Amino acid sequence: MFHKLVSFLVLFVAVLPGIAQPRQTIDFNGDWFFTLDDDLNARHADFSHANWKKIVLPHDWSIGFDFGEEYPAGNAGGALPGGAGWYRKTFQLSEKDKGSYYALHFGGVHRYAEVWVNGKYLGKNINGYLSFEHDLTPYLRYGNEQNVVAVRVDNSLQPNSRWYTGSGIYRDVRLEKRSPLHLLREETVITTPEVSAEKSVLNVRSVFNKYTNDKVGQLTLKLQDKYKKTIAEKTVRLSENHFEEKLEVGGITLWEPGNPALYDLSITVLDNSNKVVDELKYPVGFRYFDFDEQKGFFLNGKPFKLLGVCLHHDLGALGAAFNKSAAKRQLLVMKDMGVNAIRTAHNPPAEEFLDLCDELGFLVQNEAYDMWAKRKNKFDYHIDFKEHYINDLVRFVKRDRNHPSVFMWSIGNEIREQFDSTGIAFTRNMTEVVKKLDPTRPVTAALTETNYDKNFIAQAQVLDVLGFNYKIFDYDKLPTEFKGVPLIASETVSALQTRGVYDSVHDTIQLWPASSKDKFVTNGNPDFTVSAYDNVAAYWGTSHERAWIEVKKRDFLGGTFVWTGFDYLGEPVPYPYPARSSYYGIVDLAGLPKDVYYMYQSEWTDTDVLHLLPHWNWKEGEQVEVWCYYNNADEVELFLNGRSLGRQSKTDERLHAVWTVPFEAGELKAVKIKDGAAVQEVVKKTAGKPVDIVVNVEHDRYAVDGLTDMHYITVSLVDEHGTVVPDNDIELSFVPQDNIAIVGTDNGYQADLHSLSSAKRNTYKGLAVGIAQKLNQEKEAKLIIKSNTMEKEIRIK
Ligand code: GAL
Repeated sequence: MFHKLVSFLVLFVAVLPGIAQPRQTIDFNGDWFFTLDDDLNARHADFSHANWKKIVLPHDWSIGFDFGEEYPAGNAGGALPGGAGWYRKTFQLSEKDKGSYYALHFGGVHRYAEVWVNGKYLGKNINGYLSFEHDLTPYLRYGNEQNVVAVRVDNSLQPNSRWYTGSGIYRDVRLEKRSPLHLLREETVITTPEVSAEKSVLNVRSVFNKYTNDKVGQLTLKLQDKYKKTIAEKTVRLSENHFEEKLEVGGITLWEPGNPALYDLSITVLDNSNKVVDELKYPVGFRYFDFDEQKGFFLNGKPFKLLGVCLHHDLGALGAAFNKSAAKRQLLVMKDMGVNAIRTAHNPPAEEFLDLCDELGFLVQNEAYDMWAKRKNKFDYHIDFKEHYINDLVRFVKRDRNHPSVFMWSIGNEIREQFDSTGIAFTRNMTEVVKKLDPTRPVTAALTETNYDKNFIAQAQVLDVLGFNYKIFDYDKLPTEFKGVPLIASETVSALQTRGVYDSVHDTIQLWPASSKDKFVTNGNPDFTVSAYDNVAAYWGTSHERAWIEVKKRDFLGGTFVWTGFDYLGEPVPYPYPARSSYYGIVDLAGLPKDVYYMYQSEWTDTDVLHLLPHWNWKEGEQVEVWCYYNNADEVELFLNGRSLGRQSKTDERLHAVWTVPFEAGELKAVKIKDGAAVQEVVKKTAGKPVDIVVNVEHDRYAVDGLTDMHYITVSLVDEHGTVVPDNDIELSFVPQDNIAIVGTDNGYQADLHSLSSAKRNTYKGLAVGIAQKLNQEKEAKLIIKSNTMEKEIRIK
C-alpha cells in the first residue's frame, strides 16, 4: 500500500515552473497518520496520533482487506468493508509566511469528510466525488508552533452504492498559498466563442476573492503554443473585482482525439507596484462540435462517431485511491483499442483524470449522478439529494467547465424518477442550472428502457441530447418516438467474460441471468467464470459484436459508450459471492485485455490486427471453435500442424472469422490474406509444463511525475518454448529487495478472494500483474518474483 512510501514524500513546496509567487501549490499528500479507531478526541489539536499508521495520500482503506461475504456493502459493493476512519497531519509555517492566504483543497473523500484545523471545525463535505476547499488562514500558527489538520471520514452507512466506492481521502490533497487578493478558480471561465483554423477567439473571465482599489493593477493574458511561443497576448488595466477579455488568434491547430493540440493560457495579475499577485494556468483546446438528429455527431465540422467506453472510478488493485499513472495506463490501453470518448460512470472523476483526457485526446461525457431523490441503495446519495443536489451540481460544473475534453454534462444515469412525472421537473431544473453556468455544452442523461410513456418522452424533450441505454433492437423507433432530439447510445453491451476462459460455443447468445425473474445465472460455471467468446450477456444486454453492428449502421446515433472499458470492483453479475468484481470489461481488472479487445481494435483503428482465440490446450479430438479478429485484409487462412483448414472472412453480421476444429496438439496458425498475398500471421501452440516465468515491466509510457508513478509488472508462466501455459496456474510472490514497494497484485479473476494489496498472487490462465512503486526514482530498484520452483530477479532502472 501507499503508506509504505511515506518517507520520501515529506512536505515539500512545489513551486510549479512558471507559477509566480505568491500562488504556490504545496503537495500535501505525504506524512499523514491514519486509524480506524473512531475516537472523536482526535479532532483536538493536542491529541497524540503517535501510534497511528503513517500513510501517503491518496488512500483507500477498504482495498487493503481480504474480500468477505459479511460486509454490508455486499458483493455488488465490492465485498469489502466501510467503517469510519481518521486522518491527521502536522505541518509548520514560518513567520515570514504570515499574511498569505491558505486554502486546503481535497480532490475527493468518500464519505462525509469533516475537517478540523488546530481544533477548529471547518465543515462537512457530503458528495464523495467532488472536490472541496477550506480556508485555513484565520486558524494557522506560525514559527515554532505546529499546525494540525484532522479529518474524520465516515463510510459506515452501507450499502451506499451499486459499485465499489472505496473509503477515505482517496484523491489528492494540496495546500494552496495565495496572495490575500487572488483570482477564484471556480469563477474563472474560459470559452472559445469562435473557432476555425484561420481565426479563433478565446474568451476569459474571472473574479477576485475581494476587491481593494489600491491593490489591483494590471492583467495579462498570454497564450503559448507547445513550443512556448507566444501566439497571443494582451495586457489591460483593471479597476474592478472582475474582468472579461478576449484574445484573437490565427493559425490554430484544432483539438481532436487524434491530435489533442493544447495551448497554454496564463492569466497573470500584477499589483500597482508591478509585483505578481496571482497567476493561473490552463491548457486550452480549440474545438467545436454539434449534434444532428439525423446525421449524428460532428467534431470540428466533420462527422465523428463517438467510440466510447464507460469507466468506473476504481483503478483495480489500487482500489479507489487515485493515481495518475494508473489512470494514464487505463486511458492508453483504451486509446490503443480505438476509443475516442469516455463516459465517467456515474460520477465526477478525479480532476487529474480530466487533465489526462485533455492531454491524451478523449471526449468526456461527464456524469453527475446515479440517483436523485429516489434510492437505488438504502444509504446512497438519495438521502442527501434534496438538500445538496443543486449546490453539488454547481460545484461539479464549475470544477470541470474549463476542460477541452469535456463535451457533455450528464445529469443522471437510469434515474428512478424517469419512470414517473417527477423526473420532468428535476430534469428541467438541473438542465437550467447547468446551462446558466455553461451554455457551451449540451446536457444529457442516460435513460433506460420504458414503454416510451409520456413522462419519458417529456424528459427527453428537455434534454439537448438523449442518452439511450441498451434496447438496441428498438433503435429504429427512436427517431419517431423522440422527434427532434439528437441521440447517442449512452450505454451498450453488458456482455460478460472472464479473460482466458472458453466454454464451448452455442449458436445463440446466452443471457446470464436470463430474465428479471432471476437474480443470478442458474446454469453458470462452478468456478464463477464466464466464457470469453463474445457470447454471454446480461439479459438487458447483447454481445459486443451485435451492439457495435447496430450502432455503426445508424448515422443518427452519435456514437456508443460500451459498458465497460475495464472490469471494476463490485457488480459481479451474474454470480453471487465469492464473485466480487465485474465481468463487463473489455479489459480485466488487472488491465489485461480479453479477446474482444481486438474486435474493437480491428473495427476502430487502422492498427493491423490478427488475433486468434482460444488457447491451444484441449482434449484430443474435442471440437473447438476457433475465432479470428482481423482487419485490413480480405480473408484469413487457418492451418493446423501445417494443413490448411480453409479461408474464412468476417461479414457485415459477424465481425470475426470462424472455424470448428477437432483438436490436435501442435500448432495452429492464422494467415491474413490481402489481394491474394499473405500479409501477416499469428501462431498458437499447445503449451507443455510450466518451467519459467517471463516478466515484462511497463512504466515509461505511463509515467506522469517521476514521484508517484507505478510500474506494472506482467508475469507470464511459460513452457520450455516460451508458450504461455493456460491450464497450470501457480502462486507467485513479489518480494521487494531494494528501493521498491509492492502496492498491489492482480490476475483479473473475478472470484479471487485474496486482498488486492497482497504481494502474493496466483497466476490466472498463465498471467498475473504486480504493481510497484520505486522509493527513490533516481536509483535502480530490485525485486524477486518467485514460486515454489522458480525464482527471477528483476532490476528496474
Ligand atoms: C446499466 C447501469 C450500469 C450497470 C450496467 C450493468 O443498466 O446503467 O450502471 O449497472 O447496467 O449491466
